[in-house]
Amino acid sequence: MRIAMVASEAAPFAKSGGLGDVMLGLPSELARIPGNEVCLFLPYYKRIKENAAIEAEFCMDFRVKLSWREQYAGLFRLKRKVTKNQPTVYFIDNEYYFGRDGLYGYLDDGERYAYFAKAVLDAMVALNYSPDVIQTNDWQTAMLPVYLNAMYRAKLPEAKTVFTIHNIEYQGWANPDFFDNVLGLPESYRGTMDMSGGVNMMKAAIECADAVSTVSETYAQEIRYPYYAHGLDGILSSHWYKLTGITNGVDVSVFDPETDKALVSNYSVENYKAGKAANKAAIQRELGLPVKPETPLLTMITRLAGHKGLDLLCYVARRLMEEDVQLVILGTGEQRFENFFRGLAAEFPEKASAQLKFDLGLASRLYAAADIYLMPSKSEPCGLSQMNAMRYGTVPVVNATGGLKDTVPPVDPEKGTGLGFTFQSYNGDDFWGAITRSLEMYHQPEAWDALIRRDMETDFSWKKPAEKYMDLFRRLKG
Ligand code: GLC
Repeated sequence: MRIAMVASEAAPFAKSGGLGDVMLGLPSELARIPGNEVCLFLPYYKRIKENAAIEAEFCMDFRVKLSWREQYAGLFRLKRKVTKNQPTVYFIDNEYYFGRDGLYGYLDDGERYAYFAKAVLDAMVALNYSPDVIQTNDWQTAMLPVYLNAMYRAKLPEAKTVFTIHNIEYQGWANPDFFDNVLGLPESYRGTMDMSGGVNMMKAAIECADAVSTVSETYAQEIRYPYYAHGLDGILSSHWYKLTGITNGVDVSVFDPETDKALVSNYSVENYKAGKAANKAAIQRELGLPVKPETPLLTMITRLAGHKGLDLLCYVARRLMEEDVQLVILGTGEQRFENFFRGLAAEFPEKASAQLKFDLGLASRLYAAADIYLMPSKSEPCGLSQMNAMRYGTVPVVNATGGLKDTVPPVDPEKGTGLGFTFQSYNGDDFWGAITRSLEMYHQPEAWDALIRRDMETDFSWKKPAEKYMDLFRRLKG
């Protein structure tokens, strides 16, 4: 099958969050399946162009029409394939739109990504490349299924579209004049683009795509309700028949305690006790915490944003400090949370450490060193770090929502099943209850050992999710 994937970011080229990880792991796994031919389209951002390690060759250029504008587009192809089955990677070049320091956060983001979606379709036509399936991701590529239906059907007759939602909070809202001034769609699409008097690109993609997917089974159910949908519940409910949830995998070759170069000591499930102990002692030294092998080390590695459930952690923090524990927070974000954790670490220097920065090496060392991983997210489309934590033998404590519910079945001490500790309703006392249960089991070495082994041995690779995407693609092709 010819599969084209289109995204605004992908590791290792340009990544700001989980979407970037998914766009490395999923295309690679799909490309490994015999009979597949996978292409990935990305913007040629400044940071990719300037990265000497990424060599791309010029293929062609063409003009892209956006309403009254006609903009240049250059098409580049990644030169060096590292493995035989790697996807072909194309970059869309335009200095004016992508020659900037950041990825997102510009006033004209709407125009930049409408341009990108249209340029990718023009590139397919120019390449004489007719994919069977085009998979697009989040609002930045939401215009692609819309443009395809409205203007490219004759040129790309075979292409079915899948629109994948990773984050429903960002929908690509624009002023009503965006329709005439930028999009340049046929008049009949005015209603498709309209939502509450504005333009909403994600809403239009949900209407136009042949299938809509999201990144976990539970989240696919949740977003039909107002609490989760940020206004899109109505449109998702009326298009529920094309909505599927496929839980993400993680890149098991990147997140592997056996080979991760950031660790002071590598380990597998065979020798995890010695390995984790060495990493724990090292991190306690590195962060200036007392070196105490027996004290449970709890960690949270996250953007410090409200929906990650930080208010719950703030709520239980003082109670936690009364226990024999250590707590390490790694991440940056909202000022109120940074202040809170900075204050906590100052008040309890023996027990709490606030690492208010973005540091991938430290993240790896913490996954390896910690005993318990906290993730009380208010909502979570999938979440990847709970899976990374489990691969490193760190037991998750999570709110049972979205992908957290699908990837962390609750521990049943009687039966000896489950992978972590969960709570069901978003409040601090229930979170505290789950933390307490995890600490209790931590002090029962046999049960704890069995739990860590289950966590480390669970298959979180992209293999199964990629097969589910293939099933979806095949259903679309009928
Ligand atoms: C977004 C979601 C996260 C998900 C990731 C990859 O960042 O918030 O839950 O894991 O996308 O799909």
